[in-house]
Amino acid sequence: MATVIDKYPKSGDEIRKAFLDFYEKKAHKVIPSSSLIPDDPTVLLTIAGMLPFKSIFLGLKDKPSNRATSSQKCIRTNDIENVGVTARHHTFFEMLGNFSFGDYFKRDAIEWAWQLVTNVYHLDRKNIVISVFDKDTESKKIWEENIGIEPDKIIQLGEKDNFWSSGPTGPCGPCSELYYDFYPERGMNNIDLDDDDRFIEFYNLVFMQYNRDSSGALTDLKYKNIDTGMGLERMAQILQKKKNNYETDLIFPIIEKASQLSKVDYFSANSSQKASLKILGDHTRAIIHLISDGVIASNLGRGYILRRLLRRMIRHGKLLGIKDKFISQLALVGIQLMKNTYPELQNNSQRIFSEIDIEEQRFLNTLERGEKLLNEIIASGVKLISGTQAFELYDTYGFPLELTKEILDEKNIEVDLKGFEREMNSQRERAKAASQTVDLTLEGSIERDIELFEKTNFVGYELLNTEGNIKGIFINSNSVENASQGETVQVVLNQTSFYAESGGQIGDVGVIISDNAEILVEKVIKKKDVFLHYGIIQRGSIKINQLVETRVDKSKRVKAESNHTATHLLQSALKLVVDESVSQRGSMVAFNKLRFDFNSPNPVSENQILDIEKLVNKWILENHSIS
Ligand code: SER
Repeated sequence: MATVIDKYPKSGDEIRKAFLDFYEKKAHKVIPSSSLIPDDPTVLLTIAGMLPFKSIFLGLKDKPSNRATSSQKCIRTNDIENVGVTARHHTFFEMLGNFSFGDYFKRDAIEWAWQLVTNVYHLDRKNIVISVFDKDTESKKIWEENIGIEPDKIIQLGEKDNFWSSGPTGPCGPCSELYYDFYPERGMNNIDLDDDDRFIEFYNLVFMQYNRDSSGALTDLKYKNIDTGMGLERMAQILQKKKNNYETDLIFPIIEKASQLSKVDYFSANSSQKASLKILGDHTRAIIHLISDGVIASNLGRGYILRRLLRRMIRHGKLLGIKDKFISQLALVGIQLMKNTYPELQNNSQRIFSEIDIEEQRFLNTLERGEKLLNEIIASGVKLISGTQAFELYDTYGFPLELTKEILDEKNIEVDLKGFEREMNSQRERAKAASQTVDLTLEGSIERDIELFEKTNFVGYELLNTEGNIKGIFINSNSVENASQGETVQVVLNQTSFYAESGGQIGDVGVIISDNAEILVEKVIKKKDVFLHYGIIQRGSIKINQLVETRVDKSKRVKAESNHTATHLLQSALKLVVDESVSQRGSMVAFNKLRFDFNSPNPVSENQILDIEKLVNKWILENHSIS
């Protein structure tokens, strides 16, 4: 139930609540924030409040109601270099949004936005400037005639600024943005809306009416929709009358903690120290939410984003003079700050601290070795470091390229980025040649197209060989009709006996065979129950709708199954020997090995390792049946 706010909203919590209450009163269903890990294969992280509703906009999913409102946690890393440098860029931020699914459109969206900002947040109309898409004369008219905005305060902008889309494809449309003008007395002549010191864009109203396909063509969506986004941190900056988002109550307590740990006072800090403190404030919020939502630091995808953020924090902590591990202390403040809105942070706090601890220690060791090497390079007086050196730092010392660039930038030393890329490519080639594996990255159109297939009928628990029809063939992620000998392909079948990689267990290998073709299958994955077989055509050619036989390599399957069972034995033994609270953090089951990641309150001693080994071997010899 909405409650009446008896004073003007000011704190972050009040601003969030006032937004949701306002739209709830306008018959919007309040939807809790979704995870940062989206249910959408085309993006790594939830980058906007509309993302959880994308399939509704596309007409693929039923709507929960005609109208919705949410405060969505989001992460964007495309502007990471600006974080801490400008007043308003963040990795983690909260986006307040109101959404219409084929219900109200431009007029209501604009009128309600205006009511909200003037009657609820009590912004003065003299401080508000509007932008509209230049071809959208309808919105301009509504702002002028219904709201009474002076024409010189409505700025018409082109597609680059006022046409919003969540990615290269998907729902999109023209938008109209509300800006706050900190200095209206300067007048509207020759204004620059990108001037951070004067303006801040705080509310974006998107008139979501098109879908852009992979060729770039726009088609009408089933309905005309509304997607809006208000940056909570930006509104907090405005209402709390702060110089930037970082000084608001949403972030500043973390900065104060960093300031206390480093003994660098924020207000008297120099500009680079200030930037470091702000980076710590920003990244703390991002990492606690990423870990809480299940991300584990790694060198791939989301895991890499987490690792990069943590490593940037360690680096900036060092720049501020912090000697010991410190990130957990900032995380604690971040969790306290946000746990009422996001209770999962409190529930997952032990996991958050432990992941931070492991990664921080790992990187401190790396950093020590890498920095030694970098200092030698700096001391040699060079003005440019070669791609080979940068690659060695990356490959051998685990020193991220961004960090190398950042450190050398401070010393005016350049990095040969092209050379680095060359080294990276040749390493990829070497890896490929060594393992003879195919490119296993799922990118581009394949991610989207795979969703268009019917789900694959998997019969592999009962049968190792079966028949299937070829329903899709991809080469380099592009859908093709046929492919021939020597080509690396990904194949979708209507039925298969190949087990797909899942829950950390490797997929089957084997062959797909017919009279006139043979594909050596090296990996199988599944997306939404559509199985994708990765392989190389050894002989002949294949085409869509061709009947083939799938033959799983039984010896490999048995090995993977044994290793899978072994992870369960290992976990039981760990609980008995080490601690009952040991819990699984991840695992990898391959044909020749397994890896089991776990949380443990204490390090595992040599003797315990021997005990675990004995116990697991005893169970194996007892030859229990598996269910
Ligand atoms: N999707 C739009 C944005 O992110 C409005 O919410 O700006």
